[in-house]
Amino acid sequence: MKIVRTVADLRAQVRDWKAAGERVALIPTMGALHEGHLSLIKLGQVHAQRTVASIFVNPRQFAPHEDFDSYPRGEARDVELLAEVGCDLLFAPNVAEMYAPGFSTAIEVSGVSEPLEGAARPQFFGGVATVVTKLLIQAQAQVALFGEKDYQQLQVIKRVVRDLDLPVEIIGAPTARAPDGLALSSRNAYLSAEERAAAVALPTALKTAAQAVAAGGRVDEAEAAGKAALTAAGFGRIDYFDVREAGDLSRLGPGPISGANARILVAAWLGRTRLIDNMAV
Ligand code: PAF
Repeated sequence: MKIVRTVADLRAQVRDWKAAGERVALIPTMGALHEGHLSLIKLGQVHAQRTVASIFVNPRQFAPHEDFDSYPRGEARDVELLAEVGCDLLFAPNVAEMYAPGFSTAIEVSGVSEPLEGAARPQFFGGVATVVTKLLIQAQAQVALFGEKDYQQLQVIKRVVRDLDLPVEIIGAPTARAPDGLALSSRNAYLSAEERAAAVALPTALKTAAQAVAAGGRVDEAEAAGKAALTAAGFGRIDYFDVREAGDLSRLGPGPISGANARILVAAWLGRTRLIDNMAV
């Protein structure tokens, strides 16, 4: 697998592949790769002849009190994993390559980015939208893949691509889960053994709520029961446990919803670790 660190080298390689008639898929990541990321590369290989992974821990999507400094990093291991699954190119720029001195442009998305993660982490989606827009423009791939684990992020990115007419197809891939159901996440590495055991309550509560709402139960009751189950399992602050419209993430309920395309999204703290997950109703 080839590794490039500059936009010029990335563009040159993608240009050659496209000139040879090959379709290119981009998989943006922040590294600390796990099976979920690798499943995105494999899905990229279904949609394109060439796959490009990017690894960039984007400072602009972390607030000053968040875990930018401690975010897990390990490029050597990531390179091995990417090579094993047959990724063709890794783009691993440094901060100066991504944000030149004086960088002063930001992509801000209203509406879908405002509730849930947007309310809990006000600078997150501005940072994500800006860096993903840059990566899409830099790579000029025909297709880009993102995990449904970050469901709201996926909706925000789709909005940006539609609004800015970016010539790329965005594909969302199902969340990769551990055998007990916990969504794979680089931040799971922060969990102690005891917290890891308790974390299974998150997908379990989502599944219970999804079944209750699908069976005609009240939304407010399903949300309250989900929060109570997390608290009972040892979770601390629950930022949200919400049943939302799956496309624009507007509120649904409080009563039963029939025929709505609904998604349940949760963010909750286990010790010092913030976990997010979501499930279709
Ligand atoms: O989901 C992530 O890993 C990041 O938010 C992304 C999309 C790579 C942007 O930095």
